[in-house]
Parts: sequence; C-alpha cells; structure tokens
Amino acid sequence: MYLKAIERRLISHIPHWLGQVLRRARRGRADAGSARYCYAVWLRHLTLAARDAGLDRVPDAVAELGPGASLGVGLAALLSGASRYHALDVARDAPDEPEQTRRLLDELLVLFERREPIPGPTEFPRLEPALESYAFPHELLTDDHLGRSLAASRVEAIRAACAALGAETAGIRVAYHAPWHDPGVIEPGSVDFIVSQAVLECVDDLATAYHATRQWLRTGGIASHQIDLRSHGTSDRWWNGHWEYPPRLWAFLRGARPSLINREPVSTHVQRLTDAGFRILTDRRTRRDDGIPRDRLAPPFRRLSDDDLATSAIFIQATTA
Ligand SMILES: C[S@@+](CC[C@H](N)C(=O)[O-])C[C@H]1O[C@@H](n2cnc3c(N)ncnc32)[C@H](O)[C@@H]1O
Repeated sequence: MYLKAIERRLISHIPHWLGQVLRRARRGRADAGSARYCYAVWLRHLTLAARDAGLDRVPDAVAELGPGASLGVGLAALLSGASRYHALDVARDAPDEPEQTRRLLDELLVLFERREPIPGPTEFPRLEPALESYAFPHELLTDDHLGRSLAASRVEAIRAACAALGAETAGIRVAYHAPWHDPGVIEPGSVDFIVSQAVLECVDDLATAYHATRQWLRTGGIASHQIDLRSHGTSDRWWNGHWEYPPRLWAFLRGARPSLINREPVSTHVQRLTDAGFRILTDRRTRRDDGIPRDRLAPPFRRLSDDDLATSAIFIQATTA
C-alpha cells in the first residue's frame, strides 16, 4: 500500500524527470565537446596521479572508458606525450567526422602551448575531483617534454591517426572501440593508464568492466576513475533521490535509457575494484549530509551504510595488486 503510494507519486514526476535527465545529457554532451572541459578532466587525473599515486612520467598508452560525445580527453593525453589512445564506449557517440576532432585538437594545442591553468570550479562547478591547486603541472609537463610532445610534426601525426582510426601513423595510434563487449579488444598488459570520468556509475556490468581494465593494465600501471554517485537528474528533491525508486519502477524508467546510472553505492565500486585485483592508492570522497532520509529509501537500499548514503562522488586511483 505504502509502496503503491510512493510509486504513484514518483510516476507523476516522470515528465519532469525525463526533462531533467535529457537536459543533463545535453549539458554533458556540450561539456564533452569543449576543449576546456577535456583539458580540465585530463589534467585533473594526470596531476593527481603524479601527486598522490606515484606517476613519474606521462603514460605512453592510455585507455578511456566512456569518452561520450568526443575523444577530447584522449587528444589531451596524446598532446601530453602519450602515443596510444583507446576509447571504449557502449555506443559510438563521438562523431567520426574529422571536423570536431580537428577543432578540438587545435583548441587543446593552444591550451597546452599557453600552459593554461586547469579550469576550476568557477568554470565547471559540477566537475570533480576538486584540486588543491589549479596551476599548470610544470613539474610533469616540463618545457623540454612539451617541446617534443607538441612539435608540429607530432601534432600532424596525431591528426592523421585520428583520421585513420585503428591504424598507426608515425608512431601514434588512436582506436575507438564502440560498442565494446570483449575485453580482448585491447591486448592484456599493454596499457599504462586507464581513465574514466563520470562513467562507472553508468556501467551495467561492473565486475566485467573492472576485470577488463585490470587485464589491460600493465603491472604497476594506474587506473584513475571519477565516479559521480548523484542522481543524474532522476530526483528533484535529493542528490541521492534515485534510491527512492522501487526496483520495478526503476526498471521501467531505465528501460528507456540503458546508460542511466546503475544505482550502486561507493562500497560496491571499492569491492569490485579490489576483487578484480587492484590495490587502491588514492580514495577521495565527496560527502553530503543533505540526502534522502532513511525512511524514504526503497527496500533494496534500506541497509546502505551511513558512508554509502552520504558519499556523492569518489575519485579513486589504483594499481595492480
Ligand atoms: C555520463 S557520460 C560521461 C561521458 C564523458 N566521460 C564525460 O565526462 O562527459 C557516461 C558515459 O559512459 C558510457 N558507458 C556506459 N557504460 C559503459 C561501458 N560498459 N563501457 C564504456 N562506456 C560506458 C556511456 O555510453 C557514456 O558515454
């Protein structure tokens, strides 16, 4: 009876809910297509890996889970000095046409050439992780290093590799695996750095994703994930209001958008990551105390720990165990 009342109230929210989810997706697509967003994302993962996870050089082979609407994070990695970039997504969302890639590459190049500070919370208020300093990471990306990685001939090679996805061009290779189903798309132990931004909260099969990333990573490589545990527009009352929906109603809502959040709490991510054979190096959590009251939780979530209930994001970096 009580559940029915909740379902009726939640169903009455569906038009509003769909509007919010779609608006959020549009904003996400616009961000992912912007050079400054991709630069901000890549340099957050890179600088924190250098500061807290022992990274002492720019990784050579980088894989990104869920790039979304552009391959800009990968382009930033290539301009930083990487020579291999694998993008893996459930659908091919980034346009194949070279126009967007050319524009993004040109804009990113200017940002690196200017040693532009990392765009911070004034420009991207919802982007996490927050940093202690948004200064350009000169210690890792020294003038000598960037002199080589941004050389005109190398930038041309990156441009050519983007136009010939999957083929190696003058030592640079860009591969776009979308959709990907088989971990075999990347050779085991061949990747130095795995990055994802606001992706793992959307992945249906977390065990497979964490095991695949572990298989791709070389011994001592780093996996760097920002996981956004908020409701992604599915609740207008609480940042974690997605835990109010009973499973049947959630399945109905999610049916329309398969890459909507999986509703797993932070502890599940930590468990799956360690089960897959990772050792955690950095664990930075964002906590909030303005979430859904316990008595509003749908039955499967009533046993969430206080920590799970209050953690709205985690930035986690891990290496091979
Ligand atoms: C919220 S978007 C984030 C996109 C981008 N990283 C950004 O920062 O804007 C989530 C992305 O995760 C992708 N995704 C969902 N499940 C995935 C999976 N199993 N493997 C790879 N990507 C996945 C979605 O297709 C989508 O591109």
